[in-house]
Amino acid sequence: MTLAQRQPHTILITGGAGFIGSNFVHYWCNHYPGDRVIVLDALTYAGNLNNLTDLDTRPNFRFVKGNICDRPLVSQLLTEEAIDTVVHFAAESHVDRSILGPDAFIQTNVVGTFTLLESFRHHWVERGKPEGDRFLHISTDEVYGSLGSTDSAFNERTAYAPNSPYSASKAGSDHLVRAYFHTYGMPTLITNCSNNYGPYHFPEKLIPLMCINILLGKPLPVYGDGQNIRDWLYVEDHCSALDRVLHHSPPGETYTIGGNNEVKNIDLVTMICNLMDELSPELPVHPAKQLITFVKDRPGHDRRYAIDSTKLRTQLNWQPSVTLEEGLRRTVQWYLTNSNWWQPLLSEEYQAYYKTVYT
Ligand code: NAD
Ligand code: DAU
Repeated sequence: MTLAQRQPHTILITGGAGFIGSNFVHYWCNHYPGDRVIVLDALTYAGNLNNLTDLDTRPNFRFVKGNICDRPLVSQLLTEEAIDTVVHFAAESHVDRSILGPDAFIQTNVVGTFTLLESFRHHWVERGKPEGDRFLHISTDEVYGSLGSTDSAFNERTAYAPNSPYSASKAGSDHLVRAYFHTYGMPTLITNCSNNYGPYHFPEKLIPLMCINILLGKPLPVYGDGQNIRDWLYVEDHCSALDRVLHHSPPGETYTIGGNNEVKNIDLVTMICNLMDELSPELPVHPAKQLITFVKDRPGHDRRYAIDSTKLRTQLNWQPSVTLEEGLRRTVQWYLTNSNWWQPLLSEEYQAYYKTVYT
């Protein structure tokens, strides 16, 4: 299908003021300017309207502050905007916060996803079950648990074995989405992606935390022995994968998405330090790697994630376009240039959270 033949869509993007959601909103508005985009976001500590500046002036864009657990609001939005596609990012997303307080994770990730599914099911039936409607649920590779050093990478057939309250709540939501396809024939899709990185990443996560602490001359806390492995994907490549899935997958499918970039945490942190040394000559502490500090491990810390995205690559012809070296360089440069974005996020609430986790 060429762009000219494509019918415009009306898309509800939940969690569109968060990290991946906002990158996806920018991606979608740039690639499909004829689509109507509605963002529903509760603006929790992780949601930020500054991630969506420039979009307010677009006639096809609407931001709604609201909770995905609010069924009347969700149903009203689906009807009044005649939504044909839901892309569901909204979630509590940080493992360390789920260990400190799991309640919000069950509420948003499980109850919120259920609320969206039920609302969309009624809406889809009322509209006569159009063939082109889609409900895309964005999930994580963490639902598969932890790999040993010689285990094969996760794929779509890997058994679920979530280890943290966060991943267990995401696993619960995945099962609900799957059930809505099998029971009601609702046109759902699920993607399970590895660790993302790039612009608008909230300071609590590993890569932004390291960038910001280097700029502030603060210790770089590496959990445990630093040998845990993650498979990193530049956020724009995640967006292009979701684009392929939305446009080319039949309903009911699941895809694992990854960058083929397995790196030990300590090596990743060292790469960030080296890039900062190169890109910012006036760091408070130079070379930045002097700031690396090993700290108490995260409870239940998964050792290794790795993703096999053969299905997405072969069936939907997707491939990532940004290497880890290039993506990290762009990301480090973004945090160097955008201190006006991250400074206000280091709020009192954030400092209190930081103290609880790191001391
Ligand atoms: P994030 O924490 O940066 O953003 C979450 C957004 O959801 C925020 O804008 C927040 O305000 C909003 N939100 C939270 N609770 C809400 C509620 N009840 N109602 C409405 N909005 C609510 O998260 P992220 O890192 O962008 O992750 C987005 C999605 O992608 C999540 O579902 C996450 O599980 C998944 N995912 C993330 C990664 C990653 O590396 N960050 C990797 C794979 C999958
Ligand atoms: O794998 C996908 C998941 O990736 C997503 O589902 C989650 O929403 C997302 O937060 C991310 O989870 P992780 O726990 O892997 O990401 P985080 O950035 O918190 O940590 C990455 C690794 O770095 C992990 O092994 C823990 C370690 N770490 C993290 C922090 C914040 C540290 O060593 N020190 C730190 O201060």
